[in-house]
Amino acid sequence: MTGPDRRPRRLRATPAMRRLVAETRLHTAELILPMFVREGISRPVPIRSMPGVVQHSLDSFRAALGEAAATGIGGVMLFGVPEHKDAIGSGATDDNGILNVATRIAVAEVGSALVVQTDLCLDEFTDHGHCGVLDADGRVDNDASLVRYQEMALAQVAAGSALLGLSGMMDGQVAAVREALDSASHFQTAILGYAAKYASAFYGPFREAVDSSLVGDRRTYQQDPANRREGVYEARLDIDEGADIIMVKPAMGYLDVLADVAAESPIPVWAYQVSGEYAMVEAAAANGWIDRERAIMESLVGIRRAGAEAVLTYWAVEAAEAIA
Ligand code: PBG
Repeated sequence: MTGPDRRPRRLRATPAMRRLVAETRLHTAELILPMFVREGISRPVPIRSMPGVVQHSLDSFRAALGEAAATGIGGVMLFGVPEHKDAIGSGATDDNGILNVATRIAVAEVGSALVVQTDLCLDEFTDHGHCGVLDADGRVDNDASLVRYQEMALAQVAAGSALLGLSGMMDGQVAAVREALDSASHFQTAILGYAAKYASAFYGPFREAVDSSLVGDRRTYQQDPANRREGVYEARLDIDEGADIIMVKPAMGYLDVLADVAAESPIPVWAYQVSGEYAMVEAAAANGWIDRERAIMESLVGIRRAGAEAVLTYWAVEAAEAIA
């Protein structure tokens, strides 16, 4: 009897063979840990919808930075949770604002081992919770927001951020921030454009993580989940405007966009495995419904395979330990 003469299973027969022929490998340097630092607390506060993730106090933040650096991950992305918010997000541009304080600490503690990155968006600092400032009619004012982003960029550079994460989805934000950096002769600071960022329900747990004040949604500035071509267009605009790295976000629901963007982009492409992606796996695992460790590694390999060169993930430290 003659069986099939093409037998791909040959390469799956042993762990050693599978390891040898794997097309995609995870490396610790490609993992970036998002971290939340909250003003005015003396102990870390757990985030209910993200088991294992906390809002850090400055002390717990210092300790966590050391642990993160020891695992060999590539960087940290910092988010601030301020005590006071206002209409223009003053805390974002205040040198003593929590994000800028946290950035200085991170740079001092681990700045040579990790790329210290900062979220450049107003939503954590505004009392209305939007990513920009509002006009007289209560709509997000694109160009007025750009001026705030420029001020925020300069504050973050002064704090020592090595990579500014522009996540606000205002039109022209990369160009505006690049211009502000150039005119102040900050030629070393890199820009990560959240090029294709969708208005996603999977950011739900993040809103708890940053004590978001948002009422309503972000559909007038974040992209419609229905649109694939538009993701590539947004990426192209960020590249033209001077981004150094671009990102697709969320990750798992948008792997097609990620693959399209990765196929075209001459600059690095990253993906953000967002809070809801984390929460789903943790919740299912807590119920005993999936194999937690396998699901985590499979999700990361899938995101890498689709074209991301690095991944922001709340599992960065754990995944790095698993790889090592
Ligand atoms: C905006 C920002 C958000 C996330 C990262 N940056 C929230 C939003 O756009 O509503 C979400 C990240 C996550 O869900 O893990 N500053």
